[in-house]
Amino acid sequence: MDKFLIRGGRPLQGKIEIGGAKNSALPCLAATLLTAETVTLHNVPYVKDLITQRRLLEDLGATVLTPELRTHKVTAKNVTLFEAPYELVKTMRASVLALGPLLGRFGQAKVSLPGGCAIGTRPIDLHLKAFEQLGAQVSLEKGDVVARAPKGRLVGSDVDFETVTVTGTENVMMAAALATGRTVIRNAAMEPEIEDLADLLNKMGARIKGAGTPQIDIEGVDELGSAEHTIIPDRIETGTFIVAAAITDGELEIKGCRPDHLVAVIDKLREAGVSIEELNPSTLLVKREPSGLKSRDVTTEPHPKFPTDMQAQYMALMTQAEGTSVIIETIFENRFMHASEMKRMGADIQISGSSAVVRGRAQLVGAPVLASDLRASASLVLAGLAAGGETLIDRVYHIDRGYETIVRKLRSVGADIERIKEDVTQPTNDAAETAGAAVAIGTVVDNPSPS
Ligand code: UD1
Repeated sequence: MDKFLIRGGRPLQGKIEIGGAKNSALPCLAATLLTAETVTLHNVPYVKDLITQRRLLEDLGATVLTPELRTHKVTAKNVTLFEAPYELVKTMRASVLALGPLLGRFGQAKVSLPGGCAIGTRPIDLHLKAFEQLGAQVSLEKGDVVARAPKGRLVGSDVDFETVTVTGTENVMMAAALATGRTVIRNAAMEPEIEDLADLLNKMGARIKGAGTPQIDIEGVDELGSAEHTIIPDRIETGTFIVAAAITDGELEIKGCRPDHLVAVIDKLREAGVSIEELNPSTLLVKREPSGLKSRDVTTEPHPKFPTDMQAQYMALMTQAEGTSVIIETIFENRFMHASEMKRMGADIQISGSSAVVRGRAQLVGAPVLASDLRASASLVLAGLAAGGETLIDRVYHIDRGYETIVRKLRSVGADIERIKEDVTQPTNDAAETAGAAVAIGTVVDNPSPS
């Protein structure tokens, strides 16, 4: 398993370009299953989860061409299989996004039930209940969810989610796009990725209104067709690099981002003493305020509030702020595994249930640490950049799932970070990083992580 070696204490300086949003590209690729015609997606990040999603599409019988590294042309004309097997679902929970489109277009789908993961139990009961409301018969057979539309087609209905669910909303939107009649989703997730998926579906001929608000109206259509779409920038990668500038006391120009997609994060970081200047609608200039970092409490909540996917990175920053902060995680029940690793580096963090109390201004010292999930890995990279001495992060396959060429990007702004490839027993430089991530697709991942 590859590791990252970081020699911390260097302020980052320079320009960083943000890639496409992983959490938008995943459902958009799944949506290509809804039509026999070709759908072209641009700005698909070259990360392991997207390589896994592509493999899933190909296993089902779709053809995927990549005329350019980040452009996927998918033609799901000859879909011969209607299932996402356990081998894929266990490495990437987002494979459940195949359920909605398969059920919507073919009236049948089988997806292995995701098990527990590093950050909690994470059921898909709300997805399944919603499919039943659309007329599907859903059963569990030998660990697989089997769903069928009795007359071959789903029937539009009211779906009222008791908890806000991002992939649940996406799955229902895709399934209902081809149902007969009208579907209304209430208490829908409002993430920018939901809006991006709805944009793509509407370009394909769907009739969806209200995406980005708590109520989404979908008028089912008989078929969908070809479309071309560019994936939105990754707001969590953007937030991670904002923290990178602040935690190293550097100055980064972050380009190609959508600040309007991370208003709660920017507001909170400004309160905490980070200067974030909007140079233009897609570029931010980030550095610390001269008065320094201040501790500020935060609670994770569904969009548009502070995202759980930025909680770990924010915690890393709070270890360096003046005062004490309380971080409350309300989305996932076991999402503080990075805290114990940061404590090994000298952080002062006390966990009690869903709260973490972080006493700031800790002198972080490099140590060997273990990445437990995608965003936890990012937070350890941030802590390593701020720490004195060497930090060795193990299990970085988690970070390869969602951050494109993070080593190359960080090195380009002055970080001392390298990937240690265990099998080769010598460091690789950044140019090889992408290839490393691609090869790592074969790696067995024991715990699918969420983001
Ligand atoms: C998505 C994101 C992930 C992010 C999360 C919350 C993708 C691929 N992943 O994950 O990065 O951390 O949103 O913003 O977009 N729940 C149920 N039953 C269900 C579905 C969800 O109880 O059927 C619960 C979950 O356990 C969790 C909460 O609802 O406590 C929210 O989960 P959800 O929004 O569904 O997360 P994901 O869509 O899996």
